[in-house]
Amino acid sequence: MIHTIATTPFEGQKPGTSGLRKKVPVFQQRHYAENFIQSIFDSLEGFQGQTLVIGGDGRYYNAEVVQTVIRMAAANGFGRVMVGRNGLLSTPAASHLIRRHRAFGGIVLSASHNPGGPDGDFGIKYNAANGGPAPEKITDAIFAKTKSIASYKITDTPDVDLNSIGISKVGNMTVEVVDPVSDYAALMQQLFDFDQIRALIKSGFRMKFDAMGAITGPYGHAILEGILGFPAGTVMNGTPLPDFGGHHPDPNLVHAKELVDLVMPGGGPDFGAASDGDGDRNLIIGRGMYVTPSDSLAILAANATLTPGYAGGLSGIARSMPTSAAADRVAAKLGIPCYETPTGWKFFGNLLDAGMATICGEESFGTGSNHVREKDGLWAVLMWLNVLARRRQSVADIVKAHWREYGRNFYSRHDYEEVETDAANSVMKALRDQLSTLPGQHGIIAADDFAYDDPVDHSRTTAQGIRLMFEDGSRIVYRLSGTGTAGATLRVYIERYEPDASRHDIETQEALADLIALSRSIPDIARRTGRTAPSVIT
Ligand code: G1P
Ligand code: ZN
Repeated sequence: MIHTIATTPFEGQKPGTSGLRKKVPVFQQRHYAENFIQSIFDSLEGFQGQTLVIGGDGRYYNAEVVQTVIRMAAANGFGRVMVGRNGLLSTPAASHLIRRHRAFGGIVLSASHNPGGPDGDFGIKYNAANGGPAPEKITDAIFAKTKSIASYKITDTPDVDLNSIGISKVGNMTVEVVDPVSDYAALMQQLFDFDQIRALIKSGFRMKFDAMGAITGPYGHAILEGILGFPAGTVMNGTPLPDFGGHHPDPNLVHAKELVDLVMPGGGPDFGAASDGDGDRNLIIGRGMYVTPSDSLAILAANATLTPGYAGGLSGIARSMPTSAAADRVAAKLGIPCYETPTGWKFFGNLLDAGMATICGEESFGTGSNHVREKDGLWAVLMWLNVLARRRQSVADIVKAHWREYGRNFYSRHDYEEVETDAANSVMKALRDQLSTLPGQHGIIAADDFAYDDPVDHSRTTAQGIRLMFEDGSRIVYRLSGTGTAGATLRVYIERYEPDASRHDIETQEALADLIALSRSIPDIARRTGRTAPSVIT
């Protein structure tokens, strides 16, 4: 039976860079998740009788909210839901399911790389029929609905058994529980040469994949150890746990330290990789070599034709504005366009749908392509494996050869986390106030607040970050995070181009030292925030 439950709006249900993210106790308030889910449905038209894909990264509260989404989808008139077994789906696998099964859209339960558990973060995100995060037009409509919601619809049916694959009914709606991995694994086998990778493994090549106690465990076990035949134990932290086993499932050098310590010093595996809470981010390392996400994008683009899925070449490359310009150099050499978009994967959707870009990336450990409409952690790992299998060189040799050919974009991101919101805003305001006076000082030739004109739908997105551009091609970029759940996070991105190969082995922070000092002094970060150093450097 369908019930219409009276409710009142909650403040602050504004989707951020990637859906609505809040602390678990916020989501656990009565009606909180229901209000947001109903607001999603109320912002959409024409889904009666259609399919909705549902899954999440397995974090704390995932199991409960999956059941709520199922009941509300039935009450609102969806014809079918496809749910990953045990309510699990990685973000890229959800994107693929939506596309492959021509679903109306999908609801992904995740707070990505944010910690989980009863005091951790939770999140709800809507993806549209193209498999990508809802465009701003829809997220704005959802937010507007959350402010006026008066009731939501839900059935009073019992929990659906999600432990086994199969079909059942909730009211008139069909519930199809699917294997979270199989469709995705089939797609990966179309894109990459698994036989080549098997031959690489036969030659003695070894890797470690750190699933960080999160969603990619089952995918890594099935694809890397199962289909490809890497030895058991290749996947570490491979069981998805509600609190990620206490891990902060963000695949960077700080949080994936266990993996980094195994691979970087040498004597261990040849290749190391990790993915985040919901499986869309990736970390790539080799012996003595950390591959920055910006370099990884450039290197994958430069080597794409070595893999079957991209053998025909790329139509274009897209990168988020703060991502280094390494990919631009590859695009220039290939004679293809390189698009610079605001932060957030949703801005790549139109370019991918229009066939204008094939490969995309963000400095925040996100790489992907037109195979889905999300960034894809395991995809990047498999593409690296395919390139390594074809080139038979070490990760370090491939990266250094790339720098010799294109020059090196030294790059680092400095995050000031949980800064007081007013202080963070004052840093941004100080920069905005100096935009017209900075050019001419410190070698700065231009300064602006980045705005993006989408070449496909001609929408304009403004205030996407302050860019300081220097005459030697260096850049400093400032923006505030749109994914945090406590205070504000100020992100400062620092980049320098170095064509001279004899200078490529300098340590990154050292190579960027003068720019780093400037990045702090220009908006007087210490005085405004009380922070003399960033909390995380990647
Ligand atoms: C961060 C990253 C951004 C990424 C997003 C979702 O957003 O910087 O590149 O798309 O997470 O994974 P931010 O917190 O900076 O708004
Ligand atoms: Zn993620």
